[in-house]
Amino acid sequence: MLEDWLAPKAAALESRGLTRRLRPRAAGEVLIDLAGNDYLGLARDPRVVEAAVAAVREWGAGATASRLVTGTTALHAELESELASYTGHEAGLVFSSGYLANLGVVTALGGPGTLLVSDEHVHASIVDACRLSRSRVEVVPHNDVDAIGKALAERNEPQAVVLVESVYSVLGDAAPLAELSAVCSEHRAALLVDEAHGLGVTGAGRGSVAAAGLAGLDHVIVTMTLSKSLASQGGVVLGPALLREHLVNRARPFIFDTGLNPAACAAALAALRILADEPNRPEAIHTTAARLATACGVAPSAGAVVSVPMPGPREAVRAAELCFENGVRVGSFRPPSVPDGISRLRLTAHAGLSSDELDHACEVIIAAVREVS
Ligand SMILES: Cc1ncc(COP(=O)(O)O)c(C=O)c1O
Repeated sequence: MLEDWLAPKAAALESRGLTRRLRPRAAGEVLIDLAGNDYLGLARDPRVVEAAVAAVREWGAGATASRLVTGTTALHAELESELASYTGHEAGLVFSSGYLANLGVVTALGGPGTLLVSDEHVHASIVDACRLSRSRVEVVPHNDVDAIGKALAERNEPQAVVLVESVYSVLGDAAPLAELSAVCSEHRAALLVDEAHGLGVTGAGRGSVAAAGLAGLDHVIVTMTLSKSLASQGGVVLGPALLREHLVNRARPFIFDTGLNPAACAAALAALRILADEPNRPEAIHTTAARLATACGVAPSAGAVVSVPMPGPREAVRAAELCFENGVRVGSFRPPSVPDGISRLRLTAHAGLSSDELDHACEVIIAAVREVS
């Protein structure tokens, strides 16, 4: 029965060059990595690894239950308080992924009395959160502050939340946060900024919301993943203490989910402390991203993501394969993961790559793009 149902779907994807396949990594693989999101190069830092190992020894292999039962450890509390103080917010609540943090906060604020105004380029987790929220949703053109103002002004709902990313995950461009905050204030709306690609990268590590002086304002909410610059897993919602309390009581992806693994908490905490102690670390990401963008002849990135448009999905996959064969791992993004439908190579700049590695990576990428174009 499933054969009849799924085989035609698989064939349709294959015919458009859009089939995705899992490729397990080998432990000792020697590749220059420009595909993963370990922006600060901390995933294998001994301090981060040892913190995770010590947490397993102290707390065991899992959180044992949901956060409201026995799944909140002292590590969760420490992580929430240090994340909030580092990024300039009153409070934070940790979820077991960034995806669930977005789902939790948007659905807990959503409902028939809340309009959600979403930038058309936001991450899939925010799109899914909108779908689950039971709110009316207006999707507005990318970075169009006037369209947002119009949607907010014309609404009938008493509440509204504007949903954006600080640094967009596929194109690597930035949101106009000061203007967005102003338009939200003017229309009594909350501004939710996903800083998955801002934490550890922009604002000397503290993110774009802090850099714009918006952290701690009572209409500003931030979500972050702990899986990119903090080299671990998990997500967090940051904002006023009242919001945290609301989420503890209302966010279903928080309430009905096992707490974040203590080892992941400890690893994120160790990475956060390194970031706080070494404020120059994020600078290397920008230098590397600028070098990659220049080599590939594309616009500079606001963060770590450098996006190289390709003629089509097959070319994107082939170019990534050629890079892999020559020792460089890059990402290939195809529909539906690209907001504008254009397939691309997605390069992520990492702190810690040597100049020689970067030269080699640029040569390999340029040759691969040329060969398939
Ligand atoms: C912008 C953005 N938001 C949310 C997420 C989800 O975070 P997580 O991987 O922790 O679920 C990601 C990526 O993974 C992302 O790029």
